[in-house]
Amino acid sequence: MPTVSIVYHSGTGHTTVLAEAIAAGARSVPGTTVNLLSVEGKDIVEGRYKNEALLATLTVSDAIIFGSPTYMAGPSGQFKCFADATGGIWFNQQWKDKLAAGFSVSGTPSGDKLNTIEYFFLLSQQHSMVWIGTGLLPLAEGRLNRYGVFSGAAAASGYEPPSVKPDADDKDTGAHLGKRVAEAAARWTQ
Ligand SMILES: Cc1cc2nc3c(=O)[nH]c(=O)nc-3n(C[C@H](O)[C@H](O)[C@H](O)COP(=O)(O)O)c2cc1C
Repeated sequence: MPTVSIVYHSGTGHTTVLAEAIAAGARSVPGTTVNLLSVEGKDIVEGRYKNEALLATLTVSDAIIFGSPTYMAGPSGQFKCFADATGGIWFNQQWKDKLAAGFSVSGTPSGDKLNTIEYFFLLSQQHSMVWIGTGLLPLAEGRLNRYGVFSGAAAASGYEPPSVKPDADDKDTGAHLGKRVAEAAARWTQ
């Protein structure tokens, strides 16, 4: 039975909304265990992220989906502190051959969030993971992947309150990615 973990940072809740949609998509695949793991600022002390339990949960997962808001054209500082804390895991290649995917929410339709998802891809490659994109054409089913991002789930918040955005189309795009990763994990762990 595969385990899919979603590890993300969210400052004001928009990325949490997308993370929850991705988790729901992964849970829709029977037999999948899903962990929704939030990177919290309180775990960063003097610039160093420390949460051994969270890292241990990721290390026993079959797939890891990385998520962050786009801040200043890249992942948030909090997410980067988490990523830096995986250096020891990288050194021992403990995430080698796990599946990986990513998602980001920015304020504007582009907002340079592709750079954030590309960062997740490069992080996964340093860990020798196997990357899974959306598998969605732009405006698939008339409304999914509206930003035409193939490499990960992309959403926009438009600076509205967290309860408003990402909207249903963006959430369903996320759910599609979560389901796709869970289905791939089931095949990968056969
Ligand atoms: C420090 C900071 C930097 C940001 N940089 C960008 C950016 O480069 N592009 C963009 O479109 N939105 C940017 N935003 C807007 C956020 O990406 C947007 O509000 C997002 O929904 C925040 O997600 P969250 O609610 O999960 O924190 C920035 C917001 C903050 C606070």
